[in-house]
Amino acid sequence: MQEIHYSVMKQEVLTHLVPLSNSGTVVDCTLGAGGHSEALLATYPGITVIGIDRDRGMVDHARHRLAGFGPRFTALCEWFDDVLSDYPAQFPPPQCILMDLGISTYHYEGSKRGFSLHSEEDLDMRLDLDQELTAGQVVNTCREQDLADILYQYGEERYSRRIAKALCEARPIRTAKEVRDVVYRCVPPGYRRGRIHPATKTFQALRIEVNSELPRIRRGIEAAVELLCTGGRIGVISFHSLEDRITKQMFRLFAGRAPADEQNSQHYRDNPSLRLITRKPITPSREELHVNQASRSAKFRVAEKIGGSI
Ligand SMILES: C[S@@+](CC[C@H](N)C(=O)[O-])C[C@H]1O[C@@H](n2cnc3c(N)ncnc32)[C@H](O)[C@@H]1O
Repeated sequence: MQEIHYSVMKQEVLTHLVPLSNSGTVVDCTLGAGGHSEALLATYPGITVIGIDRDRGMVDHARHRLAGFGPRFTALCEWFDDVLSDYPAQFPPPQCILMDLGISTYHYEGSKRGFSLHSEEDLDMRLDLDQELTAGQVVNTCREQDLADILYQYGEERYSRRIAKALCEARPIRTAKEVRDVVYRCVPPGYRRGRIHPATKTFQALRIEVNSELPRIRRGIEAAVELLCTGGRIGVISFHSLEDRITKQMFRLFAGRAPADEQNSQHYRDNPSLRLITRKPITPSREELHVNQASRSAKFRVAEKIGGSI
């Protein structure tokens, strides 16, 4: 896995998430193959990193990769919003928190869980293999209207109704390839010639639904801001507009910069918990894009805890 997940904006993460003290604790909420954790541990030799990932395979891989750091590294196989909301008492409060959202290259290319629209694998898309709900169940059992809502809300798919209808008519659907082909056939020919495959947004929406990704990001950022040491930093790398919008809106709210009609905005204007470090998101350098085209949609936002409470 180490070879097949490129850690995005590693240098930018190291520049902006500098622990406050030599022996500080950093929480890597999305451990993945362990690339960001490894860079942090190697760059700041006294720190401890707590790495979280809900995918057991990723946790096992990262534990193996980072074994050389001994007790400076701890891996937890949990949802990050659960850990941040109920932070284990034995760990010191974090000085930096990193979220590198979404899934890893391994999930697309090696997991055999149907994340890739180019695969013939069964539709699964779970990060937590103990969970019941799979993408197959969503596609085969949701009411047509609910399926359309999922595609619209989590994929921003403009042909959501048409696609949901075609998927319902094609049931039972077993594989990723079957979904891809149904979507391809039901959308207008012009849409098939777009920059991305016409089923890309459908796949994104199914994955987000199966893993409850967006509510977890909201809950995770809220808990992270509460948990951070004053002067500590949170950094979030997002890969699509839904993730980035949530990050931007929540950072703005906690920094007291949300529009006046937004819930709780007055509270944070009077008593902000964050200072925005990046007003515009950081994006990958030209050199990085050259070696990893897949990083082109990444956006990195950073904010600093300045006191106040939620
Ligand atoms: C983009 S990858 C992280 C890659 C990692 N930064 C690296 O350098 O290798 C995202 C990882 O976060 C995990 N993940 C996504 N959402 C999660 C959540 N809410 N809780 C725990 N793990 C999550 C996925 O299983 C995936 O392995």
